Amino acid sequence: MFTPRLGILRSLHEEHVAMLSVLERLENLLAANGPQDPPNSIEAGVAGLLDEVVAALGDDVTHHYAFEETHLFPRFAERADPRIAEMLRQEHEIIRPLAKRLVAIIVQAKAEGFSVATWAEFRETGGEVVEREIFHIQKEEMGFLPALDQILDVDEDGPLRRTYAEMKDG
Ligand SMILES: [Fe+2]
Ligand SMILES: [Fe+2]
Repeated sequence: MFTPRLGILRSLHEEHVAMLSVLERLENLLAANGPQDPPNSIEAGVAGLLDEVVAALGDDVTHHYAFEETHLFPRFAERADPRIAEMLRQEHEIIRPLAKRLVAIIVQAKAEGFSVATWAEFRETGGEVVEREIFHIQKEEMGFLPALDQILDVDEDGPLRRTYAEMKDG
């Protein structure tokens, strides 16, 4: 993975790296517990990971996606390739409801534990989120961010960083 020149892109890159780490640990949990074998949702290791998944796929992904869609995809579409911007936007549209569903299952599991039924749905939804989000991040890391790092003017960095900070605070 590359290190972007612009600070705003470095922030997004670091968020990708953090997200990949959470997704990898989620994938390990899914692999360790088969469909008939729900983990104990209040066991410390599991509970901690579930909290991280909620943070990563809840607020974090909401802000990250919204910023890319509002501030980066339009610039990329105008100055590079509108088809790639549209493809990445459509991937957000697919992942967003899956992530939302996964977070809702976790909230329920934290309160009541996993049943065989909710664990089965968690495994299925979680597996799809892991697969799609990893693929999405790989595309952004290989093509989108490196290109933006060339396309964006250094003067745009400060205002974009402030805008993103405000979105996260708001
Ligand atoms: Fe994205
Ligand atoms: Fe991204």
